[in-house]
Amino acid sequence: MQVLNSSWDVTPVVRDWQRNSDRIGFVPTMGNLHEGHLRLVKAAQRNTDRVVVSIYVNPMQFGESDDFTNYPRTLKQDLQKLEKLGVDLVFTPDDESMYPDGIEQSSFVEVPSWLSTQLEGAHRPGHFRGVATIVTKLFNVVQPDLAVFGEKDFQQLLVIRQLVHDLNLPIEIVGEPTIREGDGLALSSRNQHLTKQERQQAAGLYAVLSELRERILLQNMAIADLEQAAIMQLEQKGFAPDYVAIRQSETLQEPENPTDSLVILAAARLGKTRLIDNLRV
Ligand code: PAF
Repeated sequence: MQVLNSSWDVTPVVRDWQRNSDRIGFVPTMGNLHEGHLRLVKAAQRNTDRVVVSIYVNPMQFGESDDFTNYPRTLKQDLQKLEKLGVDLVFTPDDESMYPDGIEQSSFVEVPSWLSTQLEGAHRPGHFRGVATIVTKLFNVVQPDLAVFGEKDFQQLLVIRQLVHDLNLPIEIVGEPTIREGDGLALSSRNQHLTKQERQQAAGLYAVLSELRERILLQNMAIADLEQAAIMQLEQKGFAPDYVAIRQSETLQEPENPTDSLVILAAARLGKTRLIDNLRV
């Protein structure tokens, strides 16, 4: 497994593989890898001949209230896990190479506001600009045929699909289902910040979303009332919810027709930890 930290070194390696007609799969990550990430890597391996993983904690997608400095950095363990899986190349750039003139001076990519400034975007202003910008930069360095993202960050996945569509990027985007613990809690690097008691409470988020999904299927309550009832349930379980939203799964617009395919999206704080989750209906 090659580990490279300069973008100038990555591109020629990938070009060589492409000259051999190898299809290139790519999994961008911020490290601190868990089973959910490893599933993304395996999905890339199933669909392509060579897999590149990037590990980079992208400062542009963190807001002032997000803890960029204390984001867990576990490069040594991450590399061991990727080596075990047989990943071909890991790209581990530093800030200097991704933002040579600093973030403030950098060009950026912004997906349309109907997608990027609601829900997560409303609670984390600038977050999706940071994600769209770094993913575009990484795509330019790696030039993959296919890239895999987790459905756990459902809005992020739609942002990336829109970005690729709008900018004519010849990259297939694959979304992989969320991996859950036995009690339903979605795997996330943030779970390690939960205290023992919060960890037990945390399963309540999936329980509330699952119950909401049943209620939607019964179709006997207005959407806004259903969302409000779920928010109250979360509060009773000790969460401080940011939002619970029932949206169309392709566009994240509010539902219009009974036949719309829907997704429930939620974000809620438990103590100092902010959890997000979603469920297709
Ligand atoms: O989902 C993530 O870990 C990040 O948002 C991503 C896609 C690697 C961009 O920094």
